Amino acid sequence: MTVRLKLALTIFITGALTALGVIATVLVAFQRFEHETTYYRANAFLNRVVAMYDNMFEMHERHPDEFTGFLRNLVLFEPDTQLYLLDAQGTVLAFTGEARLPPGFKVDLRPVREAVGDKPMPYVMGDDPERMDADAVIAAKTIKRAVIRNDEPMAGYLYLVAHQRTSPEDRWQVLGSSLGKPAVAGILGVVGLSSLLAWWVIAMVTRPLRQLSDAVAAVSREGLGSGAADPDAVALPSQRAGEEFSQLAVGFRAMLRTLRQQWEALRRLDHFRREGVSNLSHDLRSPLTATAACLETLETRWAGQPDRAEDLGLVSMALRNTRNAARLVQSLGDLAQLDEPEFKIQAEVLDAGELLDDIALRFGERAAQRGVGIAAAAQAEGEPPFAALDIELFERAIANLVDNALKFCRPGDRIALSAKVEDDRVSVCVEDTGPGIPPADVPHLFDRFYQSRQSVAPATGEGGKGLGLAIVKRIAELHGGDVFVQSELGRGTKVALSLPRAML
Ligand SMILES: Nc1ncnc2c1ncn2[C@@H]1O[C@H](COP(=O)(O)OP(=O)(O)OP(=O)(O)O)[C@@H](O)[C@H]1O
Ligand SMILES: [Mg+2]
Repeated sequence: MTVRLKLALTIFITGALTALGVIATVLVAFQRFEHETTYYRANAFLNRVVAMYDNMFEMHERHPDEFTGFLRNLVLFEPDTQLYLLDAQGTVLAFTGEARLPPGFKVDLRPVREAVGDKPMPYVMGDDPERMDADAVIAAKTIKRAVIRNDEPMAGYLYLVAHQRTSPEDRWQVLGSSLGKPAVAGILGVVGLSSLLAWWVIAMVTRPLRQLSDAVAAVSREGLGSGAADPDAVALPSQRAGEEFSQLAVGFRAMLRTLRQQWEALRRLDHFRREGVSNLSHDLRSPLTATAACLETLETRWAGQPDRAEDLGLVSMALRNTRNAARLVQSLGDLAQLDEPEFKIQAEVLDAGELLDDIALRFGERAAQRGVGIAAAAQAEGEPPFAALDIELFERAIANLVDNALKFCRPGDRIALSAKVEDDRVSVCVEDTGPGIPPADVPHLFDRFYQSRQSVAPATGEGGKGLGLAIVKRIAELHGGDVFVQSELGRGTKVALSLPRAML
């Protein structure tokens, strides 16, 4: 999830929670408003009644039956209102409702006292004798006797219970249509609009961050040497004093500049190193070849002379070392050349199978001397394995592989060269039935100067420097391909070059 989406979601959820809070507050306020208006109307009504009839207690004592009718007439135009006449202890003496109350039924006097007290109340909740609950808005007035009896100025109370005007469902409906729906629509609209606004603000605020992350991605994709890493050309957020992203951009530009300088220095050093190795290799090649030629002449000359047997041994050893040194010098020179970034292969589309035939022929004599069979597999039916190949490099790669195989194979082993089409690739394999390579060494075989534990051929004592497979890998890469090794101890080794297939 992007930072932008997270921020927008956070704002939306906060907005929605705020909206819910507002709706809950409005509902509570609505309820309270309703209670207060009801209480106000009830008090006004009771004040009028008490002002008009100051002898209500006497009326009740004189004609209790008619009194109920009198009370009902009073509330005729006050629907959802019940009137009760209570004595001073809260006992119901008369009331307007239809229900039958048990004789001596008493109303809780605490809310009644609150209602008649001097302290102004916003509203009072009290007993509703008909419904046996205590959640009705009530109002009350004290009723005095016209003639004070037994020093009791207060005879009782006129007690009013305001029923909810409609059923709870209806109230929700009223609330919904009058307040809920418009409020919810309004709030949703505001939340939606503010979310859109927040999205836009976040997009504006995080734009520099995106520019920066695009720049970082471009550098990691295209490399430090590309134009994407040019500190003066890279597109970064415009600089505004004091802004965090601007500081980040300034830091990033400075870091790019340092990295570019270091990278340039490394590149120059690497170039000098390659040039040095290449020149050295070139300069050493001729004297080493000349030395080897002299030693070969001596070797041939002393071969048939028993009194020179000791000298012959020394010459043979010197010749072997000179050849190894010459091979190493050659490999180092080749790698230095192949590593040059400007190096380009001279590719032409060729049948890889045909080239393998030539190579097998070339190595035939050396293989025969070792008692090892070497053959290029017959071309399989179907499409010939055409690939865009630099002949010299391709032959160098295959020669390195055959050289390895020959070095380690024992008499009686076989080496097979093959090339076949696999979808859009051409797979060129050099397979032998030699001793194989320990599994722990396989992942490192292409590392430069890496040699497996059995790096010296048991049969010939020939060693190497661990550069042959590194050269093969580099050649495969230059052809847009790769190289893989499969080996099993005691059963043999298979090295496969996978190259892009080409059409003639
Ligand atoms: N066909 C093979 N059979 C057994 N071991 C092999 C085979 N090919 C390669 N190896 C192992 O892989 C190691 C690396 O091979 P690589 O060709 O890179 O170097 P090298 O042959 O030792 O030296 P160089 O090729 O530079 O003269 C070898 O030392 C050898 O142990
Ligand atoms: Mg080798």
